[in-house]
Amino acid sequence: MKSARTPLVVANWKMNKTPSEAAAFCDDFLSRLPGLPEGVDLAIAPAFPALERVGRHLAPTRVKLAAQDVHVEPKGAFTGEVSVAMLTDLGVAMALVGHSERRRDRKETEADFSRKMKRLADAGLAPVYCVGETLEERDGGRTEAVLAAQMAALDLFGDALPPGFVLAYEPVWAIGTGRAATPEMAVDAHAFLRARLADRFGSQSAGGVRILYGGSVTPANAKDLFSRDEIDGGLVGGASLVPADFAALAVAAGG
Ligand code: PGA
Repeated sequence: MKSARTPLVVANWKMNKTPSEAAAFCDDFLSRLPGLPEGVDLAIAPAFPALERVGRHLAPTRVKLAAQDVHVEPKGAFTGEVSVAMLTDLGVAMALVGHSERRRDRKETEADFSRKMKRLADAGLAPVYCVGETLEERDGGRTEAVLAAQMAALDLFGDALPPGFVLAYEPVWAIGTGRAATPEMAVDAHAFLRARLADRFGSQSAGGVRILYGGSVTPANAKDLFSRDEIDGGLVGGASLVPADFAALAVAAGG
């Protein structure tokens, strides 16, 4: 039996789609929305320049606007950065934190992520915290140790998780490679993460957290992944760029 958690599918567009392309996606995708299951939450995370345009399209709908990142500081001399107040002003409801591409390219650490998540939570935005091991770490039997270390970023929350907090398990070796984790691998990792959450925040809070799977999710494998009790939807890159595919993922998450 599926859990009581509402499934969530988040489109992570990364550095794709100009504002005009993003608007064209919205026209197409939103025309499909009435046919999609209502018991699935949906969100789209465009690149910063497209946030306002996409936000205008999404505002009258049930699809939430998400950001791909946020800066740790509230404002000031940080050229090229974007603050949580700017996101809030645009109607952003949630933001990714800790994506492996930022861990890799920007050398961001758990200390940065915990500050970002606190900043988001204080402003009422839901953090979507991404964790996951590299292939080398998996092959070396270190998956759980790596996930546990990444979960240390939640320490700043004290005893209570922020409302709407979402966790995304994204094995690095599965992202953009066409090689998704098997449902069994994902279930094992999700169960481990939920047990860590329960240790830290109690089983009731932990039981309410949606844990998404990310890494080469496609319309072809989504049903197999999303039908597992421990997998509460997906964080999707490549397949979220095509309106028909993103719609198919919503259908897969809906049962
Ligand atoms: P992918 O990316 O679906 O293209 O593998 C997922 C992600 O990085 O969030």
